[in-house]
Amino acid sequence: MNTLSRIIAVRNNKTVYSSSQNVHKVFKSNYKKSDVFREAYIHSVIEESGLSIPHVTAVFFQDSQLVLETERINGNTLEQLLIRQPEKAEEYMTLFAGVHYDIHQHSCPNLAAAPNDTDAPVLPICHGDFRPSNVMMDHSGKLFVLDWSEANNQSVSRDIALAWFLVFLDVSVECAEYYLAAYCRISGIDAESIRMIMPEIGALLYKKSPGYNRQKLSSWQTELADYRKKKESS
Ligand SMILES: Nc1ncnc2c1ncn2[C@@H]1O[C@H](COP(=O)(O)OP(=O)(O)OP(=O)(O)O)[C@@H](O)[C@H]1O
Ligand SMILES: [Mg+2]
Repeated sequence: MNTLSRIIAVRNNKTVYSSSQNVHKVFKSNYKKSDVFREAYIHSVIEESGLSIPHVTAVFFQDSQLVLETERINGNTLEQLLIRQPEKAEEYMTLFAGVHYDIHQHSCPNLAAAPNDTDAPVLPICHGDFRPSNVMMDHSGKLFVLDWSEANNQSVSRDIALAWFLVFLDVSVECAEYYLAAYCRISGIDAESIRMIMPEIGALLYKKSPGYNRQKLSSWQTELADYRKKKESS
């Protein structure tokens, strides 16, 4: 039994509980110990970059399960806000793009290097799983980014194209387009440079996705073309 009683998210291999102060991500006992420590390590490296994220407070065993404890953000995810206030979709996706741009302006030591490699180059941070359920707004309007297990220093353009697909899968093609337009406006990046790599990123995501997402991923080009045609004619 977890001492924190409120369940806030249930996944195949983990359950997330909360109290007024903390959040406990409780991993099933078959989850690899090194993966939990890897997630805690990456989270700690990102914390040191100064980004606005809930801090890791502990990793411990409880009833033969590993628990990753973080500070609790008192608020809602952007996914919850988009569901509650769909009329504010463009506003929320602009905030979402702004947070993503801010992440890319921060750097940290190469995450692929060994933790104690002091000569590892310092590179821009890419989140690797940037989606509205991983961004929270607290009650004062401050934004926090969660879920850093996939963070890397690979490529900002690829991280943007991946975020487009994650928004497309989790929310809608309309929100994915609001996101891309806002990111390009904020950063000065040309949207065409992102669109060029989208087929490759979509194909990679398709390979690792479950069936229900694969079906949607096979239709992204048609959905996008239809959306753009409709927008041009309105
Ligand atoms: N520090 C936190 N404060 C408040 N709520 C949180 C916090 N961490 C997680 N949550 C809630 O729990 C949900 C799931 O957490 P998280 O995104 O870290 O795990 P996940 O999506 O299962 O991770 P993974 O992508 O590794 O499977 C979030 O969308 C959010 O609603
Ligand atoms: Mg998540």
